[in-house]
Amino acid sequence: MEIPAGEVVVLVGPSGCGKTTTMRMINRLIEPSSGTITIDGHDTAGVDPDRLRRGIGYSVQQGGLFPHLTVAKNVATVPGLLGWDRKRIADRVDEMLTLVGLDPGTFRGRYPRQLSGGQQQRVGVARALAADPPVLLMDEPFGAVDPITRGLLQDELLRLQAELRKTIVFVTHDFAEAVKLGDRIAVLGNRSRILQYDTPGAILAAPADDTVAGFVGSGAGVRQLTLTRVGEVELGTCPVSAVDEPVEPVRAALDDPAQPWALIVDDHRRPLRWVSKEHLAHADSLSEVGDPVRETVSDRSTLQEALEALLTGQAARAVVTGPAGEYAGLITVDTLIAHLAEVRAGAGAPA
Ligand SMILES: Nc1ncnc2c1ncn2[C@@H]1O[C@H](COP(=O)(O)OP(=O)(O)O)[C@@H](O)[C@H]1O
Ligand SMILES: [Mg+2]
Repeated sequence: MEIPAGEVVVLVGPSGCGKTTTMRMINRLIEPSSGTITIDGHDTAGVDPDRLRRGIGYSVQQGGLFPHLTVAKNVATVPGLLGWDRKRIADRVDEMLTLVGLDPGTFRGRYPRQLSGGQQQRVGVARALAADPPVLLMDEPFGAVDPITRGLLQDELLRLQAELRKTIVFVTHDFAEAVKLGDRIAVLGNRSRILQYDTPGAILAAPADDTVAGFVGSGAGVRQLTLTRVGEVELGTCPVSAVDEPVEPVRAALDDPAQPWALIVDDHRRPLRWVSKEHLAHADSLSEVGDPVRETVSDRSTLQEALEALLTGQAARAVVTGPAGEYAGLITVDTLIAHLAEVRAGAGAPA
């Protein structure tokens, strides 16, 4: 099995099939009884295990944090082993916490038990990334958090990966998670036999055997929605105005009956509120008026997640946000239906 540099490969398979064992062989916590593992052309058996592990970030369920150490000390583990000086370590800790969306001032001095599951997970990822290893092993990292937090952490990982381009081996037993995160998926059977190793699209379209088909599950049609990310479809638009801009142009834009709503954004173009003509009837500024934007989806989310957001919000459309949370467009139920119809037409199935 070859794992291309800079890609996310997801190992998915039933409990006990050897996913964790495989990961632990990659960083030599377990030695293989036969065969070889090479990284960048070098047989890992010939590399000093400590040196090897410093080049491989390892993140496990609940972050695997040391409970008696602060967040900062946890993140600083590997840089400390590498002998970095204190200033460099402190800077790196703050940089990593910011990267995973935790305010360093707030979280640096906390202990793991003072954090939610999702926050612990973020610290775990920050720790795995601290020494900037080219390879990252993530063993069911999001298994212990609730579905909404899991979705957010997945989005975060995709955002980080777009920037960092690490070689990531990610383990899950959730096929939907594999489809969302993986550039490629390895479906493992008993004793880690590779049943299929291919892109999510190829596996969904043509499962190699009945076991793989069982993993893919029923409802493969709707599952097509998990294959496409929001950023890949044509998004809708609406009038958009920054909160400190004048009211008049927004009022004018809303004269168009096809555009009953305008979006107010902050000075980083992040969505704040929806306003209608009625909202603006007596307003002389955009700073207070309108209804808060509840449903947003990231452009890295899947269409399936967009559908869930729309159903949850009982809204016909949701705001799509880009990498920094900025407005990127709108997604509607119609967009999703049109996409499914297109996929079916392409596959030659009756609509
Ligand atoms: N290739 C293998 N052949 C035989 N036994 C294995 C193999 N891989 C793992 N095992 C054993 O199977 C058990 C479960 O493996 P583990 O890696 O924890 O599974 P998973 O993480 O997929 O749930 C362990 O006791 C391990 O020693
Ligand atoms: Mg395991």
